[in-house]
Amino acid sequence: MITVAGFNSAIDRLVDVGALRPGTVHRAGGADERPGGKGVHVAQTIAALGMPVTLVGLCDDAHAAEFSQRLKLRGVDFRAVRSPVPLRQCLAIREASGRITEILERSEDPGADTRMVLDQVMRHWAMESDALVCTGSLPPGFDAGYYARVSAETSLPCAIDASGDALRAAADGSPWLLKPNAAEAADLLGAPVASLEDAAGVARALHARGVRHAVLTLGGEGAVAVDEHGAWQASLHVDGVRNTVGSGDCFLGGLMVALMRRESMGDALRLAVACGAANALGEETGFVRLDTVDGLRPLVRVVPLDV
Ligand SMILES: Nc1ncnc2c1ncn2[C@@H]1O[C@H](COP(=O)(O)OP(=O)(O)OP(=O)(O)O)[C@@H](O)[C@H]1O
Ligand SMILES: [Mg+2]
Repeated sequence: MITVAGFNSAIDRLVDVGALRPGTVHRAGGADERPGGKGVHVAQTIAALGMPVTLVGLCDDAHAAEFSQRLKLRGVDFRAVRSPVPLRQCLAIREASGRITEILERSEDPGADTRMVLDQVMRHWAMESDALVCTGSLPPGFDAGYYARVSAETSLPCAIDASGDALRAAADGSPWLLKPNAAEAADLLGAPVASLEDAAGVARALHARGVRHAVLTLGGEGAVAVDEHGAWQASLHVDGVRNTVGSGDCFLGGLMVALMRRESMGDALRLAVACGAANALGEETGFVRLDTVDGLRPLVRVVPLDV
């Protein structure tokens, strides 16, 4: 089983407008509301691939029953920690062209007691698990070193997908796996990641400073990874992309499932890239179907790189 610490749950709302014109009134077409946040995306990908998964995250009273029910239908055991403050909303505005503008609310501080319960519940489920994934922004009140400490203190394989100071703190330790995207990696190292060579250089540098599995995702260009056995690039071009938001989360879910099945990094990248592309082809943010992933996986190109 994999436990996902994705504390900062959200209500994802997708609203359709013809064309977005700042400063004017829009009449929304269909609007859709569902459980959101990076933890939800990673966990439902792991479940779709057939691996048991527990998600630990915040939920308010108004959404706890519905979120648990919806995630259960997706195969995710959601261990909701009740928050005294309302869940944040993430609004995605989709235009007829397919372009998506996101407005992500900041969450309110749930308070010290709730933060302590989140930590305790996560540690409880981690003890029952084979691996841990720490993903997404942390609710206010958590310090930026939280994921780095969790990673240092656990004996489990622990993957971290974070940005800014939380990523910086994690990279200063020797985490089992880091998965920044190109922009996050560029911010971390203070150097642009504009080419595949740049990305491979960053992954090598992260691995050299102690990241056991250094994985960079590069949107439609795929991903690069460096571990003790070598370096790889993996990519898949697909037509008909609809929504790439959450592709990194689905990628990480796929990567963890494959690594837990003891696949090599090259093979794990094949599944991860297929998951990222499967998400991009679908409308829903951070969700893949097994049949789509199975269809794409053999098409992924994996190339070894010089270490
Ligand atoms: N347009 C695309 N076509 C095909 N595959 C894609 C596309 N965009 C993303 N992917 C796949 O998904 C993976 C992750 O994408 P990306 O680098 O955009 O992650 P991210 O920025 O972390 O996303 P998020 O944080 O929204 O989940 C890529 O490595 C790639 O395999
Ligand atoms: Mg990401």
